[in-house]
Amino acid sequence: MAILITGGAGYIGSHTCVELLNAGYEIVVLDNFINSKPEVIKRITEISGGTFKFYYNDLLDKSRLEEIFLENNIEAVIHFAGLKAVGESVYIPLQYYHTNILSTLVLCETMKKYNVKKLVFSSSATVYGVPERCPISENSHLGALNPYGRTKLMIEEILKDLHVSDTDWSISILRYFNPIGAHESGLIGEDPHGVPNNLMPYISQVAIGKLKELNVFGNEYPTTDGTGVRDYIHVVDLALGHLSALEKVTNSTGIDVYNLGTGKGYSVLELISAFETVSGKKIPYKIVDPRPGDVAVCYSDPEKAKESLGWISKKGINEMCEDTWRWQSKNPNGYEKSFEVESPHLLPVRVF
Ligand code: NAD
Ligand code: UFG
Repeated sequence: MAILITGGAGYIGSHTCVELLNAGYEIVVLDNFINSKPEVIKRITEISGGTFKFYYNDLLDKSRLEEIFLENNIEAVIHFAGLKAVGESVYIPLQYYHTNILSTLVLCETMKKYNVKKLVFSSSATVYGVPERCPISENSHLGALNPYGRTKLMIEEILKDLHVSDTDWSISILRYFNPIGAHESGLIGEDPHGVPNNLMPYISQVAIGKLKELNVFGNEYPTTDGTGVRDYIHVVDLALGHLSALEKVTNSTGIDVYNLGTGKGYSVLELISAFETVSGKKIPYKIVDPRPGDVAVCYSDPEKAKESLGWISKKGINEMCEDTWRWQSKNPNGYEKSFEVESPHLLPVRVF
């Protein structure tokens, strides 16, 4: 029996593939590399020593997806694939609705057809919009502020409707807070296209000398030092949360939502300081206007995941910074050694 990982070449997906292989799972990975590189597939095998089938495939391609279900004995699916840039989603909302929602529909229709009804879905803390209070528990008010966030909210609703229609489905919806860090090997990590939008990859690219200085978006928030506070979580802890959720969906039916965070908030200046300490690099920064749409403070109440999934985050802020720095210094240009894939037909299935 295999676990299908959609978007498994991406940042969180690649770390989850490593942990699944380490735990002895058989995995089948699907990705169209729209936001990742083929090199990551080799690195997953290098770290884990495991082999798996990789499908270079768009999740929207239903007939290919059906072939994957026919060719493999899929037991459950972890669904990461999708577009994730908040700012970009405001400019190309149709592409976000099309990719994120339609691909989830195609996936669920195919799962239903092949009687695979166990699903772990990547949602986001962004569904809480402007939090009423922190820590944020799963039953807090929902209200996304941008098209990306609305795709996540809509998919959550679709999955709930699906479960109402057929209670054989077993679904875990995971709301991630702010994943940072990288695998301790320094072989896989976050590799954003162009200038990063998110804080940690921006800091690490300043540290490596690719970017001159960091813009800190506002220092007049009602926080200890005036800068925004977030719940940064090590990507390996997050990956392990998927293994716990997978066990849950495998061993029970029902649908539930879980925050995956540490429960602790750090400000922008605190993260800069921690990064400077572990890397020994100075991070020049200047304070600029707040970024439109940003909230002041956002951190999780992770109790439900602890109680129901038996999962807690273990790695602290220093380890998050150390592992990010190792990845960035070993791979100053990300997965630059990647080979180009010209046509999906050149790489229909490869066993790595
Ligand atoms: P990522 O972009 O690194 O990974 C997503 C992967 O999906 C990429 O490899 C991309 O090529 C692939 N993909 C996209 N559309 C596809 C399609 N139509 N068919 C096949 N593959 C496709 O993103 P990530 O950071 O690893 O995030 C994974 C999931 O978690 C996403 O759904 C994202 O919205 C969600 N999430 C991420 C964060 C974060 O801060 N990274 C926070 C909350 C939620
Ligand atoms: N920030 C800066 N300068 C930068 C980038 C960010 O000061 O160059 C600040 C932001 O203002 C914020 C904090 O750093 O206070 C974190 O910002 P990120 O962009 O790293 O993360 P966000 O919390 O804005 O959003 C991220 C993902 C969303 C996801 C959300 C919750 O980008 O997709 O976490 O999981 F929905």
